[in-house]
Amino acid sequence: MNLRATNRRVARVVAAVMQKGGVGKTTSIINLARAAMLKGLRVLVCDMDPQGNTTDALAKGELAEDEVSIADALNPSEKDRVPITDVIVKTIWDGVDLAPVTSTEALATVEELIAAAKHGREYRLREALQPVLGEYDLILIDNAPSLGLLLVNALAASETDELALVVMEADRWSTQGLVRLRRTVEGVQKYYSRDLRWAGILISKWRGTTDEREKLADIAEHFPDAPVWASQDDDYRDAVPLWNKIKTEINAGTGMDESSDVRLRVTVAAIYDRAIDRLMAGREAA
Ligand SMILES: Nc1ncnc2c1ncn2[C@@H]1O[C@H](COP(=O)(O)OP(=O)(O)OP(=O)(O)O)[C@@H](O)[C@H]1O
Ligand SMILES: [Mg+2]
Repeated sequence: MNLRATNRRVARVVAAVMQKGGVGKTTSIINLARAAMLKGLRVLVCDMDPQGNTTDALAKGELAEDEVSIADALNPSEKDRVPITDVIVKTIWDGVDLAPVTSTEALATVEELIAAAKHGREYRLREALQPVLGEYDLILIDNAPSLGLLLVNALAASETDELALVVMEADRWSTQGLVRLRRTVEGVQKYYSRDLRWAGILISKWRGTTDEREKLADIAEHFPDAPVWASQDDDYRDAVPLWNKIKTEINAGTGMDESSDVRLRVTVAAIYDRAIDRLMAGREAA
């Protein structure tokens, strides 16, 4: 009997959430994928954003618009559905696989089809991922800046082991927006996915201003169950700095650890390395 195969656990799923655009969800997912890969974890990135920014950054070369995509794996019609194994592609980084978006329309259209389906609207992604859960240690889901049905699917993607990771800037958010985000996640917890938990709040584009420092306490108040990953105790070392070079490197397909800029190679790479430790806590490798 192959003990290793039988002992194998299913992947932990982490969904990046925040309905405000441009806060660093995609950048975080890409950097987290890289950091996880460097730790030897088997990683799948699911691009659930019709904008396809994650796909653009990670895919090897350009994917044709008529190429199968994650939208095909989510199709509620059995006859039109494509197995996720046919959708997943290799990326610019060995050890990171990708379920890509290949056209803006396809994912938007499939969201409408899912909404119109009679049953299982919240579980299309869960079903799609089922066959590959044992193939990965970590599945990272990038989401659009929205609280719609695709996000609900992302949050209900795992039956047993899923975390919602809030990505946000410390100084630019609306109280109402945070309340809506929290309600959405709690709604999924209550109705669709009891094992969904908060991972924490990853602070991005950090400049270290007094205003930002003060606002961390407000953020913590809005998410009593989710730790803010930035604290005065360690000089805010886990807040991702606002450095333009981060953007340049991601656009060039360069990992933080590979950067010629020592601040990225040391400081930023270490932030994501520790983030993976937090995300994988309690789930030792099988
Ligand atoms: N720490 C950072 N320092 C500098 N620029 C950054 C940083 N993080 C992200 N950016 C840049 O800010 C822009 C928005 O980031 P990103 O695409 O990751 O946000 P997002 O939350 O995924 O946006 P959307 O909601 O539209 O999907 C991008 O141009 C990105 O390169
Ligand atoms: Mg994005």
